[in-house]
Amino acid sequence: MKRLMFGVLISVPAFCLAADPEVGDFGKTSDGQAVEMYTLKSNDGLTAKIMTRGATLVELHVPDRDGKSADVVFGWDDVAGYESEDNQYFGCTTGRVCNRIAKGKFTLDGKEYTLAINNEPNHLHGGIKRSLDKVVWKATGFSNDRGQGVRFSYTSPDGEEGYPGALKVQVSYFVPAKGTSLRISYKATTDQATPVNLTNHAYFNLAGAGSETVLDHMLQLNADKYTPVDDTLIPTGKIEPVADTPLDFTRMKKIGARIDKLTDTAALGYDHNFVLNAKTDATKELNFAALLRDNSSGRTLRISTTEPGIQFYSGNFLKGQQGKNGKTYAYRSAVCLETQHFPDSVNHDDFPNTILKPGETFESTTMYQFGIAKPAEKN
Ligand code: BGC
Repeated sequence: MKRLMFGVLISVPAFCLAADPEVGDFGKTSDGQAVEMYTLKSNDGLTAKIMTRGATLVELHVPDRDGKSADVVFGWDDVAGYESEDNQYFGCTTGRVCNRIAKGKFTLDGKEYTLAINNEPNHLHGGIKRSLDKVVWKATGFSNDRGQGVRFSYTSPDGEEGYPGALKVQVSYFVPAKGTSLRISYKATTDQATPVNLTNHAYFNLAGAGSETVLDHMLQLNADKYTPVDDTLIPTGKIEPVADTPLDFTRMKKIGARIDKLTDTAALGYDHNFVLNAKTDATKELNFAALLRDNSSGRTLRISTTEPGIQFYSGNFLKGQQGKNGKTYAYRSAVCLETQHFPDSVNHDDFPNTILKPGETFESTTMYQFGIAKPAEKN
């Protein structure tokens, strides 16, 4: 590779470092905190924009089968949009405990804790004012020989949103220079035992955010089982097979094909935690979780993770709010595929553990790989 520097041609090795990501202002929160936006780019056409409020993925541009780029995630043009009632956790880092905790209560080391009830009668996505999606994180951009990234950090003080212990959280977004993928990794430590369950809450529509529906997307989930819920969407504790139900996505299925056959749920559509099948290749760090495909654009998204579960939510509470670039986000026009531990794990001893103790480090990684479907792939 050749680069012109001070008028002189010099050789730089092919493995040269990628440049650090661009950083710019994204306005202010209503209480005056400055919010920054980081832009990560691959050489093959993926661009991700992530802001410091909520370590939130704001834009994600990926090419279609003709090389035409579209933003495939929901969001707003400004911080005020994210602060509005219409924001249903678009693209944010969700926690300290994502998903629901029954009646906002749990007992740890003999002490009962009470959290905010923000999704009657339960606690949802970490609370009200100071959940991880609403605070402004510190950020550091970085680059190495493989690509560009940004590391967000936040220390949630003891008692914030009712959770015990000071929790130090780090979320890193990384875009490899080669290909079209985004990797999100989480780390957390604590000074007191505390529940932790972190995910990203991106709303995807592979035809482009703002397209009318997601019911025409094809989906595969690497899950033979799921956790049934009661009529407030809290797991009953059972783990049941998906076979012979509209939850069977073990092979590619159209999302809309059986959605209205889901009669035994208060979720108004898909809003279920799937238990990921055990990894078949123990040498790999990540387990295949989901494959999403839009036949109109040819875009595909493959998600792999270290997490044991995935919440598949079909946007049943979207209400036609207006987002970025004046786009309308209609009922069931996006999917969330939230890799995580099971909902309400803190109240289910036989679910995978979500209690982090002092001296331990919580670690979790999810990879979002975009691609193009082969022309023959229709079903
Ligand atoms: C939950 C939904 C909820 C949505 C937006 C999802 O993770 O499963 O029930 O409506 O988040 O808050």
